[in-house]
Amino acid sequence: MCSVVGYIGKSLCKGFILEGLKRLEYRGYDSAGFACLDSESKRLLYAKSEGKIDVLYQKISSQALDGYIGMGHTRWSTHGVPSIENAHPQFDCQKNISIVHNGIIENHTELKNILESSGHTFHSDTDTEIIAHLLENLLLSHQTFKAALIDLVNKLEGAYAFICMIQNFPNEMVVVRKRSPICIGIGDNEMFIASDLLAFANKTNKVLFLPDESFTIIKKDSIQLYDFSGKPLIVEAQEINAYWQNIEKNDHESFMIKEIYEQKNAISKTVNFYKDLSTTIWDNLGLSPEFIKNLNNINIFGCGTSWHAAKIAQFFFEKICLIPTNIHLASEFRYMPFFPDKNSLYLSVSQSGETADTLEALRMVTSLNCHVITITNIASSTMVREANGFLLTQAGPEIAVASTKSFSAQLTALYWLSNRLAFEKNIINLNQMHVAESDLLICAEALENTIENYKLLIINELAKKYSLYRKFIFIGRNISYPFAMEAALKLKEISYIFAQSYPAGELKHGSIALIDENTPIVIFSVLDDIIYQKLLSNAHEIKARKGHLIAFAFEHQKELINLADQTFIIPKVNPLLAPLAMTGLMQFFAYQIAKTLGRNIDQPRNLAKSVTVE
Ligand code: F6R
Repeated sequence: MCSVVGYIGKSLCKGFILEGLKRLEYRGYDSAGFACLDSESKRLLYAKSEGKIDVLYQKISSQALDGYIGMGHTRWSTHGVPSIENAHPQFDCQKNISIVHNGIIENHTELKNILESSGHTFHSDTDTEIIAHLLENLLLSHQTFKAALIDLVNKLEGAYAFICMIQNFPNEMVVVRKRSPICIGIGDNEMFIASDLLAFANKTNKVLFLPDESFTIIKKDSIQLYDFSGKPLIVEAQEINAYWQNIEKNDHESFMIKEIYEQKNAISKTVNFYKDLSTTIWDNLGLSPEFIKNLNNINIFGCGTSWHAAKIAQFFFEKICLIPTNIHLASEFRYMPFFPDKNSLYLSVSQSGETADTLEALRMVTSLNCHVITITNIASSTMVREANGFLLTQAGPEIAVASTKSFSAQLTALYWLSNRLAFEKNIINLNQMHVAESDLLICAEALENTIENYKLLIINELAKKYSLYRKFIFIGRNISYPFAMEAALKLKEISYIFAQSYPAGELKHGSIALIDENTPIVIFSVLDDIIYQKLLSNAHEIKARKGHLIAFAFEHQKELINLADQTFIIPKVNPLLAPLAMTGLMQFFAYQIAKTLGRNIDQPRNLAKSVTVE
């Protein structure tokens, strides 16, 4: 997703800005840009490029293009194709105002029409350019800079975070936030601005997170913060010791394969971290014994892989805690009728803690005084700050765009939490709690061992064979159905092969018409005997129609193993953890197919890691 980085202060800024953008590169983007006011003439200098930051870097590294105030951007296209014209910064007619922006201006068409009819000429298809032209107009019609800014932010609809640099005001910058994240690192006679504090970690630990619907006029040594009505705001900077470690692939060919192999460790680190939390867990979660006693319902929401983890977790909470649990896709949840329930626990699940759809759902729920706990991998994320409580997964930074270890860490967190709540409600005893924790560790072992067992077969034979198919169907039943959804997502996002998931029982209600020899069907088994029998019947129906069957089956499931054209045998684990045990191999299989097809696996086309627009 788009990242913005800015600087104003005592040092030349180009190095910091390019390094900051590079640190946020994993979020995904398609073009990049840099602008500054020349250190001597204070004239605007800028460069933009399509593709990766390295291209921009090469373009400007040898140029004398640097200053004490500047900003940079990586763009993930929303309005207009990836191109130099559409890359940021965007400018007004006079190239006096420069804007880098993350988010969407929803009323851009209306504003553009007004501005065009008053004589402004646009050079890009972006919604961002509107901000620059609108401010150009408002600076003419308002007496003060601040008054123009108040008018500007009230005219812009949508969710956005942007930095504005103006040639005529060379000693200040404007930073605006509505819904999208942005923060300022306060240094000694210098300010660092970024959509994620990682960009300036190690430079300062004093961080000001802009409140929602606020703007600041910043100089190298001062910050004036206002709400959208112009009322001054006083917000304390927080001390956050974020460290930047350059995460390397080490001996791995990609981040994704490295992260697939880090899952065993991610699971055990997460379990051990929770064990150590001991009784302080309730402070982190913001839950009282009274609330847990009255808890009658759980609602979980998230997007993409996190939503799939939540759908699997429904089985944990209902079977272990005996609490009815509903799962919501965050992007839909917000626009459905909502019935606030004070005795319900709401869980937002998000690797990044920044996903706009999930964050907005969280805000909707907290605004109605319901209790939200966020399960996330990023301690400094907006969701941690805005939820009533949090539970951190310990997957470590996930760089590849496709989620792998964050998914298994989410399942771990959700499984652990369901047991912890059950323990608190006297549904399970301490011994059973310890068994649950060791089941997770056993499962982590199984996850890694199955990859090892099939590694060579997949690399040497199966990846090539299955990369020739143009479409796949993934099926499961009960707890393995949401897992089939995740498997289909993994294959399509990194290989670009069309993949569709179905609940196995639904095949005969229509989609069985799709079965032919050219569409492999991947079936994910379960450890519940009754459901396994039903799944087996579905497998027979597929074979009776000459379907090509790939089965992820458990070691004692001989009939399914013999029926399938290709079987991956998974060790038996706790039945509720069956999806977790299959996770590593499923990801590895999809990965090797994508690799055979020569895809850009760590940064697949069109995708972003942290989706901060709705
Ligand atoms: C898929 C993937 C996405 C994310 C989704 C939500 O591999 O990574 O589907 O799961 O964009 O992101 P988070 O979990 O950061 O809220």
